[in-house]
Parts: sequence; C-alpha cells; structure tokens
Amino acid sequence: MLETEGLHGLITGSLGKEIILLQDTDSTNTVAARLADEGSPHGTVIIAETQRGGRGRLGRSWFSTKGNIYMSIILKPAVKTEAAALLTLMAGVACVRALGSTTGLDVRLKWPNDIVVAGKKMGGILTETKILADTLLFAVVGIGINVNMQREEFPSDIQSLATSVKAETNKTQSLPLIISEILKETEACYELFRENKRDTLLQEWRRLSSTLGKNVKVTIGKDIITGIAEDIDDKGMLLLRLLSGELKTISSGDVTLLR
Ligand code: BTN
Repeated sequence: MLETEGLHGLITGSLGKEIILLQDTDSTNTVAARLADEGSPHGTVIIAETQRGGRGRLGRSWFSTKGNIYMSIILKPAVKTEAAALLTLMAGVACVRALGSTTGLDVRLKWPNDIVVAGKKMGGILTETKILADTLLFAVVGIGINVNMQREEFPSDIQSLATSVKAETNKTQSLPLIISEILKETEACYELFRENKRDTLLQEWRRLSSTLGKNVKVTIGKDIITGIAEDIDDKGMLLLRLLSGELKTISSGDVTLLR
C-alpha cells in the first residue's frame, strides 16, 4: 500500500483535507466524479496505486502500473463553464513547480498540459467537468506523473517519447513527498485562480512553457496545422501564427515541436 506518513505533514487549507487512498481502481477520475456528484466537498483527493482503466486526453488510455502518481482532485469553484480550461493550466503550473522543487529537474509544460523533461512526456493532466447550463458544478483534475517507472517498463510504442523522474535522476523518489508538494502548489495556484489573479497564473504558465515561440505542428483529429506557437489567450487557448500571417486560436489538439 502507498505509504501515507509523508502526507500526514501536509499543511493545506482545503485541498487534501480528505484524502482517499485506493490500492487499485478503474480510474481515479471516475471515482472522484462519482464522489463529487454524491456531495464530497471541494478539495477531496483520490489517489490510487494502480489503475485498470486510466484515461488520458483525447480518449487515450493512461498506462498505470505501480510506482507512479495517479491522483484526482475535486474542485468546486463558483465560476462559469468557460473558466474550466484555466483549471487545467493551473494544475499544470502546480505540478511543474512541485516536480521542479522536489527533483531538481528542469520540468516544463507543453500545451495544453503535458509535463515534459527534455522534450519527453513525464506526466499529464485530464480535467473532466460536470456542467449545468453555463455553470460549472464541479471539476475533477486528474494528474498522472511517471515517477518510479523504469525506462524499459514503458510500452514500446511510447518508449522514445516518455520518461519518468527515476529515468531522469537514477533515483527512486518518495511518492508522498511529491504528492504533498503538488497539493501545496495546487492550493497556492488555485488561490490565484479564485482571487481573479488569472493573469499572474497565465504569466507563470508562459514562463514554464516549452511550447511558446517554437515552430510546432498541431494535430487536430485528421488535420495537421503548422505555425509558430505565439501565445496563449486569457482562456488558455493556443494562439498559432500561420505562415499566411493569420493568428489561429486552437482549443484542443496535440502539439509536436518542430526543429
Ligand atoms: C494526458 O493524456 O496527458 C492526461 C493523463 C491523465 C492521467 C491521470 S492518472 C489520474 C487520473 N485518472 C485517470 O484516469 N486519468 C488521470
């Protein structure tokens, strides 16, 4: 079972006041959404040691063997639906800060929310929401970070694209330490979101980004667009400068950095 001692020293206001640890589950996001629906409060955290049906963005599955972080946080901000995309960016900033300070690695964000080190994916965030009319009832921010996985444990098709903290540092890392730091940073970033200091949050995202200013290829379903990733807008959308000069707003897709 995941050792929890390190989490007992966690000092946060509301995030992680209630932490549910599971040995194995389908997906922590599914459990969190059910609990949020049943009335679990803002800040409840669900952590699993392994997942049988871990989900990634764009309908992909998320490889979820033991030794990594699989965590979902229930957030219940009183905001309109359109602010939800910013919650994903907020969690990305929090994870990158936490991983940077606990591992010393140069961890970056690739739009929309891949956590990358030296161009390889170390983690990702999947935010799922429940909406009524234009109001956000709750958001589940799902965080997956490859921590103690060995390079050779990755499925062969992603081995050259993915990495873990252990693969980069050659050290086994403490999961409770990283989890505590992620929760502390998420709380700090969530305060910026809640206090309407979203510009500060977006500036921090820009600072930690590995995407902006780069020549990129964006895959949206069957379409591929190339251009310069110029900026993100105040809703967290990617602004892509096409060769024609047009500035295109992208709400979803896969970004690959081009040389
Ligand atoms: C991505 O595609 O980059 C997002 C991956 C998100 C994975 C995490 S693991 C914890 C939570 N539960 C899930 O089923 N998915 C998210």
